[in-house]
Amino acid sequence: MKYILAITTLAAIAAGACNKDITVKDQSDINTVNACSKFQGDVVIDGVEGLGALSMDSVKEVTGDIIVQNMYDLQTVSLSQLTKAGSFKILNNTNVYKVDIPNLNTVSDFQIIVNPNLKELNYKNMTSVDNFQIITSYISSLGAFTASKVQNIEVLSNLQLSQLDFHNVKETTGYINIANNGKNANVTFSSLTTVGGNVSFADATTLDISKLSSIADDFSLYTNSFKNLTIGSLSKAEKSITLSGNKFSAIAFPKLSEVGSSINIANNTNFKSISKDTFPKLATVPGSIFLEGSFDNMTFPSLKEVDGQVSLKGTGRLSCSDAEEALSAASNIDCSLETVDEDGNDNDSKDGDEDDGKTSKSKSKTSGASRASVTAAVSGAVALVAAAFL
Ligand SMILES: *[C@@H]1O[C@H](CO)[C@@H](O)[C@H](O)[C@H]1NC(C)=O
Ligand SMILES: *[C@@H]1O[C@H](CO)[C@@H](O)[C@H](O)[C@H]1NC(C)=O
Ligand SMILES: *[C@@H]1O[C@H](CO)[C@@H](O)[C@H](O)[C@H]1NC(C)=O
Ligand SMILES: *[C@@H]1O[C@H](CO)[C@@H](O)[C@H](O)[C@H]1NC(C)=O
Ligand SMILES: *[C@@H]1O[C@H](CO)[C@@H](O)[C@H](O)[C@H]1NC(C)=O
Ligand SMILES: *[C@@H]1O[C@H](CO)[C@@H](O)[C@H](O)[C@H]1NC(C)=O
Ligand SMILES: *[C@@H]1O[C@H](CO)[C@@H](O)[C@H](O)[C@H]1NC(C)=O
Ligand SMILES: *[C@@H]1O[C@H](CO)[C@@H](O)[C@H](O)[C@H]1NC(C)=O
Repeated sequence: MKYILAITTLAAIAAGACNKDITVKDQSDINTVNACSKFQGDVVIDGVEGLGALSMDSVKEVTGDIIVQNMYDLQTVSLSQLTKAGSFKILNNTNVYKVDIPNLNTVSDFQIIVNPNLKELNYKNMTSVDNFQIITSYISSLGAFTASKVQNIEVLSNLQLSQLDFHNVKETTGYINIANNGKNANVTFSSLTTVGGNVSFADATTLDISKLSSIADDFSLYTNSFKNLTIGSLSKAEKSITLSGNKFSAIAFPKLSEVGSSINIANNTNFKSISKDTFPKLATVPGSIFLEGSFDNMTFPSLKEVDGQVSLKGTGRLSCSDAEEALSAASNIDCSLETVDEDGNDNDSKDGDEDDGKTSKSKSKTSGASRASVTAAVSGAVALVAAAFL
């Protein structure tokens, strides 16, 4: 067996089969690749029927891309000796349940996208990776992600995945996008200090970004279920901050003094108080501020400058006059808060008229302009997700 393999290897090398791209059509093409310890080129396996198990266990390195896609019959993928690849892409394979790459440590693009039955994804020491994406799978655990500097990280729609442990990651040059994973997802980026792109965390039960100090693009938290979060190291967000649909009652940005554009806070049903601890140092907002919710009180102790429009909406105990006082650094405020008192009653109509509702609108407009759009920020994140599926 060893002897036969050796002969095949010699034949493959002699024929130059180890240094040109290959589009695999059948098992013999797989044997050809597998005869190469180092394969210099791309290996593309696309829509090959009747292949249940893909094993290329002799290959140690592929300088190009390994792409396995649109395989309906495929169930297992094994490249047990592979340590390095240009990229490793497992895309749209309906029935794949196992992918074994225990020695893969260096790869540029690692994309495991739309493999809805993939339960076991075995990697043990991912040391160097640029783009890391795991989207739509059935995995319940990640492998050991040991890289400290990465370009992009995207982990979406893995409904069985509840531990997202990226504690080795210190820096990304691109974006981080985490959403729609397991119900009790614990998301750990405990060493992360610097993000070079957007950061979006959604649907997490716990989130550790305690060292995150610098974000080069938009920062978003959507539909997370933690009750309280302190983003203790963040001093500057180069673009916007969006907090939407979360469950927290308190959030704090103790060091944040500047944002690069806007602040959008909407639909966080338990978040009623923008307190002195929420944005204690925030001094400058060059863009807009959009606040929608059932606010009882609001203060921005250090706010000195808001250049864009402020929009206030929702129903709570907070009145427009108090909100406008808290946001007196802004010259352009559009307030349509409906104010209710402690018992949920209209504060303004002391007598009578109790039948027609409990709220009173204290509408006020310092100056009209287009409304800051949290919708734009939300659809941006959706677009990012959609793009990943292409
Ligand atoms: C996914 O793979 C199946 C075959 O397994 C194929 O019929 C389908 O067109 C592929 N989808 C995409 C988006 O390529
Ligand atoms: C992980 O892989 C790197 C090579 O990229 C190696 O130096 C290191 O020893 C490996 N660590 C473990 C725990 O296997
Ligand atoms: C997530 O973390 C919390 C708090 O540390 C813990 O109680 C919970 O069990 C963890 N969830 C999972 C799925 O491990
Ligand atoms: C508000 O958030 C809830 C979940 O937290 C969601 O079901 C609802 O669609 C959101 N509404 C808007 C307008 O975003
Ligand atoms: C949130 O957590 C911080 C620090 O852990 C704590 O000081 C604060 O009281 C908490 N706020 C609420 C509303 O639970
Ligand atoms: C915020 O409003 C609530 C309800 O009116 C009140 O109980 C709480 O003491 C207020 N907090 C601050 C810091 O004013
Ligand atoms: C409610 O009414 C009281 C007394 O009339 C007034 O002092 C207070 O400012 C009002 N509160 C709000 C939130 O409008
Ligand atoms: C994220 O980054 C991209 C490109 O830099 C940008 O177009 C997008 O609007 C950003 N924001 C969000 C919330 O996705």
